[in-house]
Amino acid sequence: MKTILITGAAGDVGTHLRRELAGKYRIRASDLRSLKKISSEAFMRADISRMADALRITRGVDAIVHLGGYSVEGPWEGILSANIVGCYNVFEAARRNGVKRIVFPTSNHAVGFYPRTQTIDHRVYIKPDSRYGVSKVFGEALGSLYADKYGMQVFCMRIGNVNALPIDKRRLSILLTPRDLAQLVTIGIEHPDIRFEIVYGVSGNKRSWYDNSNAARLGYRPEDDSEEFAAEVLAREKPGDPVAEMHQGGVFCAVEGVPNPAPLPRRAPKAKPAASAATGKSRTPPMRARSRRRRS
Ligand SMILES: NC(=O)c1ccc[n+]([C@@H]2O[C@H](COP(=O)([O-])OP(=O)(O)OC[C@H]3O[C@@H](n4cnc5c(N)ncnc54)[C@H](O)[C@@H]3O)[C@@H](O)[C@H]2O)c1
Repeated sequence: MKTILITGAAGDVGTHLRRELAGKYRIRASDLRSLKKISSEAFMRADISRMADALRITRGVDAIVHLGGYSVEGPWEGILSANIVGCYNVFEAARRNGVKRIVFPTSNHAVGFYPRTQTIDHRVYIKPDSRYGVSKVFGEALGSLYADKYGMQVFCMRIGNVNALPIDKRRLSILLTPRDLAQLVTIGIEHPDIRFEIVYGVSGNKRSWYDNSNAARLGYRPEDDSEEFAAEVLAREKPGDPVAEMHQGGVFCAVEGVPNPAPLPRRAPKAKPAASAATGKSRTPPMRARSRRRRS
């Protein structure tokens, strides 16, 4: 069984993913914050903006799913430390520790200034809609460099919105359900021919803005489609900011900040050695009856 490191494991995507992948991989969960262990995973507390921490958590794993970071638009200092310095540290630590495979969650906000009327594929020019979006483009660029220069295998998922249900009109186009997320991440970990790839992290949504043929080429067959919730979602939709309405990135195109769902402690707690244990596998059921989120 492969050992995978999931950074940012306490966050929303990490929590969904750990639940979905429990039993399939030996999971080393890492975060700045503590977390509730889902199954027999190990936990290593770490601040990825410190190279020593990044080196410690990436040692001896087969692949890394690098979710840790600042996940919305906000003050540059937070984005710089987690998404630029932290992202660099994780890639560089992986290289030094001989870990070849990295799955990186980039974002729809790397291309958020494309209009909703346009269908885009993985080859379009970047159009970030925020400092956050720029930081995701940095991660994509870093992945490309580390693939070309050091032979690493980097799978970038431009994620839409990870959630069980679409929460508004925009998310009807970009929903990624937990089980489709898990399928895509598994391709990112297992596919034998990955050098550097960009795919869209979305379910098989009828209203998608993306030509996701690159993901299909690699075997992705999403099981979910937001369309079954469209009537309900559209019935409660209120008119929004015109700039947000026009662009794929929505409100990120129009605002300076979105509340941070994972505010960081002022000073990172001291790193503790890895621990294991905890039992009770729980897989997320498809589509219904789970939390709603208001971001991404
Ligand atoms: N949620 C989505 O729908 C979505 C969409 C597109 C991209 N993404 C990306 O996926 C990743 C996970 O998103 P999320 O929604 O779970 O975010 P989240 O904010 O819920 O979780 C991020 C986690 O990273 C941790 N973290 C932040 N700075 C850190 C540091 N310096 N060292 C160690 N850990 C640190 C936080 O403590 C938090 O638990 C992010 O990179 C985000 O940009 C998410």
